[in-house]
Amino acid sequence: MAAGQIVGETLELLREHLVAGVTGAELDRLAEQHIRERGAQPSFKGYRDYPATVCIEIDDVVVHGIPNQKPLQRGQLVGIDLGAYYNGYHGDACFSAVVGGADEAQQKLLDATQGSLMAGIGQARAGNKLKEISKAIQRYAEARGYQVVRELVGHGIGEQLHEPPQVPNFFNAGEFRDYELVLAVGMTLAIEPMVNGGTHQVRVDSDGWTVRTADGQPSAHFEHTIAITESEPLILTLAEGARFVSDG
Ligand code: MF3
Ligand code: CO
Repeated sequence: MAAGQIVGETLELLREHLVAGVTGAELDRLAEQHIRERGAQPSFKGYRDYPATVCIEIDDVVVHGIPNQKPLQRGQLVGIDLGAYYNGYHGDACFSAVVGGADEAQQKLLDATQGSLMAGIGQARAGNKLKEISKAIQRYAEARGYQVVRELVGHGIGEQLHEPPQVPNFFNAGEFRDYELVLAVGMTLAIEPMVNGGTHQVRVDSDGWTVRTADGQPSAHFEHTIAITESEPLILTLAEGARFVSDG
């Protein structure tokens, strides 16, 4: 068992429970229970005083929504982001889905976001520069009419939840030194595109955590922790255990 697999399993469990009427607080409790049963610890709880195991990202919430007692409703686009710490390492992943099933517009946004994650992972190869990941994500999302969030980025991950390098989901020459980093075997990255239906701009609620789209349009978020290998990138945060990209 590895941290990433525990994250993947827990997200699958939460996916089954993502139905109308369930609350974010209930999903949070399920997640924490499952993680602790596996002998692992939630990565987010207590991180910079974050109060929960998961982040719940409803509709226009981009990231860092704090679980609460409000029942989820059919039609809401919900992202669930989760980290676990086990045997000295963190895993971090997120999926988005619509309660009760997506309409056409929601499905397009979900597909564009998940596709952009996979496009980014596809560039996570030894010898590539990190900016190839950023460019692939941005290209995929923008080709489908969406914008990627710029204020928040993916990250290195390992013994700490957030490690260098920063992994932006867009390319703007000179903005990040890490764009020019040459990827090497053994690096582990959390790649996490946040893709907005409208403007890429975001604002933060007065709780200091909840990040929303500036225009109130929906946002989707997918994330995997991956490892760079001699060949294909290895996705670590899957319920069945780590798999090379080419193994599907
Ligand atoms: N996946 C997000 C990240 O990597 C979630 C962090 S929430 C926090 O930044 F509470 F841990 F900050
Ligand atoms: Co992350």
